[in-house]
Amino acid sequence: MNNRPVWIQNIGELATLKSAQTGPRIGEDMNDLGLINNGSVWVEKGRIEAVGTTIEIKEKYESRMEEADVIDAGGRLITPGLVDPHTHFVYGGSREEEFERRLQGYTYMEIMNAGGGIHSTAKKTDDTPYSQLLKESSNRLDLFLHHGVTTIEGKSGYGTALDTELKQLRIMRELNEQHPIDIVSTFMGAHAIPKSFAGREERYVESVINEMIPAVMAEDLAEFIDVFCEKDVFSIEQSRRILLAGKKAGLRAKIHADEIVATGGAELAAQLEAISAEHLLKTELAGMKAMAEAGVIACLLPATALFLGEKPADARTMIDLGVPVAISTDCNPGSSPTVSMPLVMNLACLLMKMTPAEALTAATYNAACAINREDRIGSIEEGKQADLALWNVSSYRELQYFFGVNHIHSVWKRGELVIN
Ligand code: NIG
Ligand code: FE
Repeated sequence: MNNRPVWIQNIGELATLKSAQTGPRIGEDMNDLGLINNGSVWVEKGRIEAVGTTIEIKEKYESRMEEADVIDAGGRLITPGLVDPHTHFVYGGSREEEFERRLQGYTYMEIMNAGGGIHSTAKKTDDTPYSQLLKESSNRLDLFLHHGVTTIEGKSGYGTALDTELKQLRIMRELNEQHPIDIVSTFMGAHAIPKSFAGREERYVESVINEMIPAVMAEDLAEFIDVFCEKDVFSIEQSRRILLAGKKAGLRAKIHADEIVATGGAELAAQLEAISAEHLLKTELAGMKAMAEAGVIACLLPATALFLGEKPADARTMIDLGVPVAISTDCNPGSSPTVSMPLVMNLACLLMKMTPAEALTAATYNAACAINREDRIGSIEEGKQADLALWNVSSYRELQYFFGVNHIHSVWKRGELVIN
């Protein structure tokens, strides 16, 4: 760790995301970025010591300027390191041939029900040795970092049996220690019913509950549990049982809900007080209202909607109803092969009509809330981890406007310059 203080000055626009409000930002508060013009940040021992204008920080630290590594941000934008709260980044192989089949008219579910989709990635992940899977996943994390992401959530769920689930989760644990990106792990044994359980679906649900959850907890490998609650995958009742068993074991609930068909997944998320519900492409008004009331974060995935050719989630109605909204890549080889949170912010604006400020809030502070990390990341304020992204633009509006461009200039993780 760098023991010298780091003084970043001459920041054209500093989006601190600091707010008097606690908890995820809702409604109009999603537009409040806590902007400081000509800003400055003083970092010490990996933490943010002080935030203000360049003049204020200069005055405050006048006597200690000599000690610091001084960085001139050149009038550019600084935001909190981006947070990706929903990924499936540990997987073997890729699925470009399925992509071509979908372009010819086959649907995602047709391909999955015929043994492709998640099943084909599960087989490839089974067959990829630990060391190779670790290396490929680490390379993918490098790409995230090069797009300004400093913390991600990762899900298991690509395996035909428990040992591959554990392999994925152990890889995430090892990468969390090795790689600059922090990883928050989610157990998702209920991602697909393995073909070997065809006709014995209940038996698989029991195995998730009675064998997999205890094995994951025995090694303390996850913080969250997630289920693909979908027509022809896990029903509402199966999802409820699995999530309740996870909660009983100490995992917080997340749920892939209403992605292809509205099955009532949003309502279930509200009943179970899930921390977040994901996708929500088909969620109806009642489900959104239930989420708003229970404070469930909507984790919206516009790149997935684009890639599947589906209508995106109704972010505007959710925000109007007071549902806290986060956004994410959903990085996975089937429905969203991307690592770019900047692109996801562009798509949040273009496809879901979120304002540029809402999109940034959804990719930082609210994303941190969706993985229970808002006490240490997601905003630039005194005492928090110095996870910062410096962009080659002068304002957050430009960041959302020049779309499909990677504007990253530099990234700091806990005060260390990791991309320059
Ligand atoms: O979030 N919908 C379920 N799970 C992933 C896709 C997984 C895959 O196709 O490999 C998702 O979109
Ligand atoms: Fe997903």
